[in-house]
Amino acid sequence: MRHLHTLSDLGKDDLLALLDRADRFEQERGEDSSRPLAGKSVALVFEKASTRTRVSLELAVVELGGHPVVITGNGSQMGRGEPIADTARVLSRMVHVITFRTAGDERFLDMAKHSSVPVLNALTDTGHPLQLLADLQTVRRSLGKLEGLKYAWIGDGNNMAISWIEAAGLLGLELVLACPQGYQPAPEAVRAANAKGARVKVVTDPATAVRGADVVNTDVFTSMGQESEQEARLAAFAGYRLTQELLSTASRHHIVLHCLPAHRGEEIDADVLEGPHSVVWAEAESRLHTSKAALLWALERDG
Ligand code: CP
Ligand code: NVA
Repeated sequence: MRHLHTLSDLGKDDLLALLDRADRFEQERGEDSSRPLAGKSVALVFEKASTRTRVSLELAVVELGGHPVVITGNGSQMGRGEPIADTARVLSRMVHVITFRTAGDERFLDMAKHSSVPVLNALTDTGHPLQLLADLQTVRRSLGKLEGLKYAWIGDGNNMAISWIEAAGLLGLELVLACPQGYQPAPEAVRAANAKGARVKVVTDPATAVRGADVVNTDVFTSMGQESEQEARLAAFAGYRLTQELLSTASRHHIVLHCLPAHRGEEIDADVLEGPHSVVWAEAESRLHTSKAALLWALERDG
């Protein structure tokens, strides 16, 4: 059984093939009449809020001819304490793929362990692989390639940052992360990527990371589940906002990514988010094309 827990679970060849397929879905949108998910259903399980992930996965299933079933924590017996293991066994007797957004990795791994169908990570505290697929498709579409670019991550060493470090490991990318002390990504993640040939470095100075960067990426300073830390986080992340001034030393053709939702004036200024270098809306659309490719990957690798 192949689950997608982390981006690394794909491997480089499958990752690149999946991005090629997502490109074809983007080109064919509305014209492709094949229905590879006909007769199949997918459970989309959300224990945290979502706009993009929910809509893109639900539409991906429908446009591929399948049937999506959305389940939320509070709207199901999960919210009343039914164990993940029981939920996994029941769902996987009825559906062909499960996607799961939850907090700790233990919950994701519990779902995967007890499921007899593939489970895709739709965000946990330590990764957001489906978002990375969209980010990579967006970079390739915007700049024509993935390798040979300089990538900068500014802000929290969170789930998104960890998935970006994994992408660097898979593809041998140069990635500099600027994160305040106490909010840096796990050193093992950096070591693992560099052992595979990436050039990943963690610094505290955002200007160092941005200088000469082709791709500048950020995310919220307070992720879902961290609301009680908001005040401390806003203080720790002062100086890490993407501003025009900070970006003035990036490459002339740089692009700005943000997985969204964005907090204007916190991690990114409105004129950067809406500015000429921002590709965030195309990045959001890529969630649909890459979700289709990820669902087919899961079904083809099942077994
Ligand atoms: N980027 C992302 O995952 O957005 P949602 O939380 O809206 O799904
Ligand atoms: N880091 C953010 C990503 C939201 C898509 C969070 O976990 O809330």
